[in-house]
Amino acid sequence: MSTKKNSSKPNIVKTFHIKTFGCQMNENDSEKISGMLKALGYQEETDVNKAGLVILNTCSIRENADERVLGNIGAFKTVKKTNPDLILAVCGCMMQQPEIVNQIVTKYPQVDLIFGTHNLHQVPELLNNYQVNGNRLIEVWEDSDTIVEDLPVDRKYPFKGFVTIMNGCNNFCTYCIVPYTRGREVSRQPDKIFDEVNKLVDDGCIEITLLGQNVNSYGNDLGDAVNFAKLLRELNTIDKLKRIRFMTSHPKDLTDDVIDAIAECDKVCNYIHLPIQSGSTRILKAMNRKYTQENILDRVNKIREKIPGVAITTDIIVGFPGETEADFLETLKVIKRCQFDSAFTFLYSIRTGTPAATMADQIPDEVKHDRINRSLKVLHQISHDINQTYQDQIVEVLVEETSRNNAKRMTGRTRTGKLVNFPGNESDIGTEIMVKITEAKTFSLDGEKIGQEGIHGATHTDDDAISANS
Ligand code: SAH
Ligand code: SF4
Ligand code: F3S
Repeated sequence: MSTKKNSSKPNIVKTFHIKTFGCQMNENDSEKISGMLKALGYQEETDVNKAGLVILNTCSIRENADERVLGNIGAFKTVKKTNPDLILAVCGCMMQQPEIVNQIVTKYPQVDLIFGTHNLHQVPELLNNYQVNGNRLIEVWEDSDTIVEDLPVDRKYPFKGFVTIMNGCNNFCTYCIVPYTRGREVSRQPDKIFDEVNKLVDDGCIEITLLGQNVNSYGNDLGDAVNFAKLLRELNTIDKLKRIRFMTSHPKDLTDDVIDAIAECDKVCNYIHLPIQSGSTRILKAMNRKYTQENILDRVNKIREKIPGVAITTDIIVGFPGETEADFLETLKVIKRCQFDSAFTFLYSIRTGTPAATMADQIPDEVKHDRINRSLKVLHQISHDINQTYQDQIVEVLVEETSRNNAKRMTGRTRTGKLVNFPGNESDIGTEIMVKITEAKTFSLDGEKIGQEGIHGATHTDDDAISANS
């Protein structure tokens, strides 16, 4: 669809800047957009005010995610006055909602291109069409039952990479917008995933993170021969690959088979992000999560029994409609029983169009804030206690970057996902290093390097998210 905005042909400045909001799914999409733009001869511009093309890849998970994006779009009104050749494109989850697109069309004339989560592959065509006549273009498909393969991907890190294994979500948790913004589940063919991982490894990548809204239901649409446990076992055979991570696991689909695969595959990290959302069976039912408090405890026990040294993290929503003090106390009880290493804790946010938005008994803000503070207190204590068990231990760290506030310190992650800071140098980046933990803090570990990988002494086999980790 094209809407008349101005009749002059824009001058093309082939530099781009992408601002990504939201989850790793969106980050991976931005890497693909960047890959396509570089293939068209565009260069990345780090200064958003100088770029010829700015793309905002949006997230709609909570109200303040939407507000942040609209604030960003608003700011481009003045940028465009000083830089009239700037092309402003907006894409991602917010664009899958017609009322938001309408709002942008009527209130934000500075936006030139709008495309949805199913239209990434059309970026070159859209840009080209826009450049021909300078008319605003909108391309949003409601859903898509195919996955466009072989898009170029411009990876942020050479040593680790995201690999999307499935798109969409079929679960319709009553609070969540994602099924509306990402459509139904579509799994990628295993050979396509295998090819992508092999290519990554050939390019020097040693860690992959498999992405999907619910990776445990991977392959449900591909017949009996394919499932997530099999995929893990298959990828574990890739020689030069060292670490396999995945997110997100839905507790309802975390089978014994998947837990066994994680336990038995040496490359699969002993780390599981398992969002429980609530500990109250009554609230879980209202959320349409399809598991009970007993199911959570059973899964967590099984994970701990089978996977030595495992770290488990979670997501919690407080203040879901109808959540009573008794329900909240059930959540606190489950947090204590499960001993989560850390958690992202969210205030329930109304998402228009979802069933929970119109449920009776919405919880007042002050009650939500009180509950989030009380859960964080419990979560922080647990994180602190678990981290203390790392004191004086030797852990294997994949070094990721220079520490934000000290160029002589490096930062990386253990297989269990713990953030470790230690004195080192840039040549450590992208390698696995053995580090002895000298100080265990609540949100990170400090240590000192004791050598390169291979020493088998390891004893530990933007948001509005208030993380027990930040
Ligand atoms: N597919 C993943 C979660 C993706 S969204 C899963 O099911 O676990 C990431 C997190 O955002 C969710 O786990 C949930 O805790 C939170 N979230 C989603 N919708 C929300 C809403 N309306 N209000 C507050 N938090 C929400
Ligand atoms: Fe949202 Fe639930 Fe799907 Fe996760 S499983 S993306 S929370 S609907
Ligand atoms: Fe991710 Fe936000 Fe969309 S969390 S799937 S970018 S709504």
